[in-house]
Amino acid sequence: MSKDPKDPNYDPADDPKVVAPKEAMATGDLPNELPHHTKTITFHQRLERNATLLLAASFAVVTIGGIVEIAPLFWLENTIEEVEGVRPYSPLELAGRDIYIREGCYNCHSQMIRPMRDETERYGHYSLAAESMYDHPFQWGSKRTGPDLARVGGRYSDEWHVDHLMDPQSVVPESVMPKYAFLANARIETDAVDDLLATHRFVGVPYSDEMIAEARVDMRVQADPMGDSGGLVERYPGAQVRNFDGLPELTEMDALIAYLQMLGTLVDFSTFTPDDSR
Ligand code: HEC
Repeated sequence: MSKDPKDPNYDPADDPKVVAPKEAMATGDLPNELPHHTKTITFHQRLERNATLLLAASFAVVTIGGIVEIAPLFWLENTIEEVEGVRPYSPLELAGRDIYIREGCYNCHSQMIRPMRDETERYGHYSLAAESMYDHPFQWGSKRTGPDLARVGGRYSDEWHVDHLMDPQSVVPESVMPKYAFLANARIETDAVDDLLATHRFVGVPYSDEMIAEARVDMRVQADPMGDSGGLVERYPGAQVRNFDGLPELTEMDALIAYLQMLGTLVDFSTFTPDDSR
């Protein structure tokens, strides 16, 4: 017998998927549903028609899924592989990071190099989770109007950054980046930086009492090549000390460039080997 409705020999009774309404009333099946003798489907149909039962069953499924995903994290000591060289931001870098966030640089720049060839050839080694372990909030981003900045540190001179931030089109004529010249006139005070560090400690960044006590001095001294920066470099290994914007005052430009120039420079990739054991 044929199951093609256009065939003259077609008889709906041969087609298990088609149930005539009359017949359906008798057997409890609804038209165009699978026949009642497919038991598992019937159970599911019951579940779908009972809102409370469906809600309870969905809740049970989501709970099991949630426990399976979340519970192991409570027993893992650390989900981020620790990497040598990664340290909390120095006070000046952290202040620069705040300016980066305030100005919305993340709207056009990401800070995460993905492990794909086109990215690693352009930007350098792919980003490690540990490199943003002290970022609150993280700056990975998903929008790249401009290039990724995860490893921009050391790529350009401070003078280039000053020129570029003052007037991006003066160094990259086709750039759509806005001008940030006002940062050079905005003097930055150090009196809130210890609170800034304390806040970051509150969310888990391991700033010591000493780091917080010395924060104001450290912030000033990092942009002052004449100052005594021994303590700063001891507390923040690898901190770069110089007058970043070339101006006598401590400005927001100093802080932002100090931040840009350290991005992605903390890990020495000539000696880094990934730990596969986790
Ligand atoms: C409207 C989008 C936009 C915003 C907002 C923006 N940029 Fe850019 N940025 C760009 C574009 C496009 C480029 C590439 C052309 C150029 O170098 O100017 C760029 C380039 C850069 C570069 C050079 C990167 C490289 O590898 O060549 C740096 C550094 C940079 N931006 C920093 C910043 C900072 C800091 C801020 C916030 C104060 C910022 N940008 C805000 C669009 C933006």
